[in-house]
Amino acid sequence: MYAAFALQLKPKEFEQIRQFVYRQAGIHLKSGKEELVRTRLTKRINSLGLESFQDYLRLVRQDRSGNELTLMLDALTTNKTGFYREDVHFEFLREKVFPFLQPLHRIRIWSAGCSTGEEPVTIAMEAREALPDIDRRDFRILATDLSAGVLEKAKQAVFAQESVQCIPSRLLRKYFQCSHQDERRRFRLCRSARSMIVFARLNLVAQWPMKGPFQVIFCRNVMIYFDKATRERLVNRFHDLLCPGGYLLIGHSESLTGLSHPYSFIQPAVFRKED
Ligand SMILES: C[S@@+](CC[C@H](N)C(=O)[O-])C[C@H]1O[C@@H](n2cnc3c(N)ncnc32)[C@H](O)[C@@H]1O
Repeated sequence: MYAAFALQLKPKEFEQIRQFVYRQAGIHLKSGKEELVRTRLTKRINSLGLESFQDYLRLVRQDRSGNELTLMLDALTTNKTGFYREDVHFEFLREKVFPFLQPLHRIRIWSAGCSTGEEPVTIAMEAREALPDIDRRDFRILATDLSAGVLEKAKQAVFAQESVQCIPSRLLRKYFQCSHQDERRRFRLCRSARSMIVFARLNLVAQWPMKGPFQVIFCRNVMIYFDKATRERLVNRFHDLLCPGGYLLIGHSESLTGLSHPYSFIQPAVFRKED
């Protein structure tokens, strides 16, 4: 245990943190976020026995493993996610996307900013339902995130009772094994769905090792952190990796309005690369 000390965040320190976080992860901390930065990082600074934001920033910069940077970014972002979040996208998958994928043998879907895995797992279940011969196809879901912590959790593929409530009970029974742990029910994703997902750490504003092409890219509730220039660069990079006729799905609170991009608008939060 450690005693929590309230720390003062000087304007110069906020500016240094703001610039550092922007360079590292494209995360744009607007002015007005000083209190958020102060409260979220104070806990970590106290637990390390450090005395100032300046000391903490020095430590993050010196940590070659990148672990402290991950913890810092985790503290400043939210990993909120859920099964069937923004359900209208999964209706769109069922009605428009899977019929388009039906003739293909090689299928690649990318969940960019996958957090703890609920999004790629929902895609995996829906894909298995729509394409009964899926195991004879070359089908992969690439699920990436900046945070090593959320990816570790995602790879375990074990979910609490509260989080599986949005999964239709037929699919829950079909794709999860239920067990009891400390009097709480836990749900583990079955191997057939697990094996469809490849998790990897990837910073969306850095280099990408993969070449695509992807038929669908989900990047939902991630661009909320980025400024206009970063969003514009990102959606154009996604466009390069999509195959003709492929889809980009973004969060319903996000938009491409005001960005220069070549997509066709299909419906709110759904965009298509032209054939
Ligand atoms: C709010 S969650 C969204 C999860 C999921 N896509 C959904 O909509 O439910 C945002 C995720 O974006 C990730 N993220 C933030 N900046 C990122 C970056 N530069 N590169 C990759 N992932 C990033 C965070 O770690 C977090 O897990």
